[in-house]
Amino acid sequence: MKQSKVAPAQGKLGILVVGCGAVSTTFMTGVLMARKGLAKPVGSMTQYDKMRVGRGADAKYLHYADIVPLAKLDDIVFGCWDVYPQNAYQAAMYAEVLKEKDINPVREELEQIVPMPAAFDKNYAKRLDGDNVKQGLTRWQMVEALRQDIRDFKAQKGCDRVVVLWAASTEIYVPINEQVHYQLTDLEAAMKADDREHIAPSMCYAYAALTEGAPFIMGAPNTTVDIPAMWQLAEQTRMPIAGKDFKTGQTLVKSGFAPIIGTRCLGLSGWFSTNILGNRDGLVLDEPANFRTKEVSKLSTLETILKPDVQPDLYGHGNDEDTQYYHKVRINYYPPRNDNKEGWDNIDIFGWMGYPMQIKINFLCRDSILAAPLCLDLCLLSDLAARAGRFGTQRFLSFFLKSPMHDYTQGEEAVNNLYQQYTMLKNAIREMGGYEPDEEID
Ligand SMILES: NC(=O)c1ccc[n+]([C@@H]2O[C@H](COP(=O)([O-])OP(=O)(O)OC[C@H]3O[C@@H](n4cnc5c(N)ncnc54)[C@H](O)[C@@H]3O)[C@@H](O)[C@H]2O)c1
Repeated sequence: MKQSKVAPAQGKLGILVVGCGAVSTTFMTGVLMARKGLAKPVGSMTQYDKMRVGRGADAKYLHYADIVPLAKLDDIVFGCWDVYPQNAYQAAMYAEVLKEKDINPVREELEQIVPMPAAFDKNYAKRLDGDNVKQGLTRWQMVEALRQDIRDFKAQKGCDRVVVLWAASTEIYVPINEQVHYQLTDLEAAMKADDREHIAPSMCYAYAALTEGAPFIMGAPNTTVDIPAMWQLAEQTRMPIAGKDFKTGQTLVKSGFAPIIGTRCLGLSGWFSTNILGNRDGLVLDEPANFRTKEVSKLSTLETILKPDVQPDLYGHGNDEDTQYYHKVRINYYPPRNDNKEGWDNIDIFGWMGYPMQIKINFLCRDSILAAPLCLDLCLLSDLAARAGRFGTQRFLSFFLKSPMHDYTQGEEAVNNLYQQYTMLKNAIREMGGYEPDEEID
């Protein structure tokens, strides 16, 4: 390995997951199985991808771990919080994502992962009614209790470092309020005043993580760390933050397919995306206020790839306020499918002289199977970023996210194009590995 300035990945890495549901238990089970050699971590870039470093005669194709010091799967220790008290084994069985034969070999380890009581407010996810909840706390007391949880976990498990990952349910949509969410002092005052309308429980987790020296990753579309006050806190604590919303199925396809239309200068008059899914995530998203959070996240993908202001002839048709072409996203809760989501995309494009054509994509995916490797990559790369002294929003992680964070107060745009995101990811790894960034394509 070339001399990188990143601190080595010594000791144990604690991964504290908020939520012990389908995604988190699939993630944990896969890591535990992989390190026993009983399963392959397919889909994980940190475990499989090889990228070029150096140019010309010096070019080499290496795994990320041969470029930068990444934590090893063997060094990971899991912990979690959940509204329901079931341990990770019971939760994995309940989720029915994995077969029993793929869970049982690590049953004992999973049984030891027992959720700590959640910082929860039923108003933020009405369809959940578990009782493993920190009772009667103000928002600020939630922060303090969560900080204590992180400290206790770190000490009990002998972890050197901790990363906190939100893989809990999508909360209701919290519109950004400049009086509360722009300045850190205002955010803290609101937490102390127990302002439950503007302070989501997820913000308490994020605040606790950052002040305890742990990077925080938002895997749901919640606003949580995507507010200037949290960017300020991340800067003050010199901790990385990343979000929002794992880019798993339909949006992955969208961010990879839209560039085909854009690069080929074809027109778009509409893109209709619909989904059916039947897991607990789908149940929570069946609630309109929770779906709104997801909808905002899913809709944002196309706007920055196919831009009506840059190509009015191609993308200025239709009258959708944000995108001009018609872009609709629907999620329907349909229990028989459980975690096996089905997504349909109907894309109305047009070509030479405006003649219409259609593209149909039918993705029969497995939500948690696609999300688990993203959890691993986001945790390992955030831990790496912290050791490299990087703090604040980690834009190089946009690759993994549906609604990547960016400084909207400065008019910055999100990068949603999958190939641009991949370049950003590789360049950050090159830089952390002591190589020059570049944009050569290979
Ligand atoms: N699977 C995917 O493809 C995918 C993609 C993008 C985003 N996500 C997001 O990931 C999250 C997890 O998805 P899932 O399928 O595992 O859902 P899930 O319902 O199986 O698990 C979520 C768990 O979070 C718990 N929870 C809710 N609020 C909590 C709180 N305040 N503190 C602690 N625990 C809390 C719930 O009790 C539940 O057990 C969802 O927000 C989902 O939208 C998933």
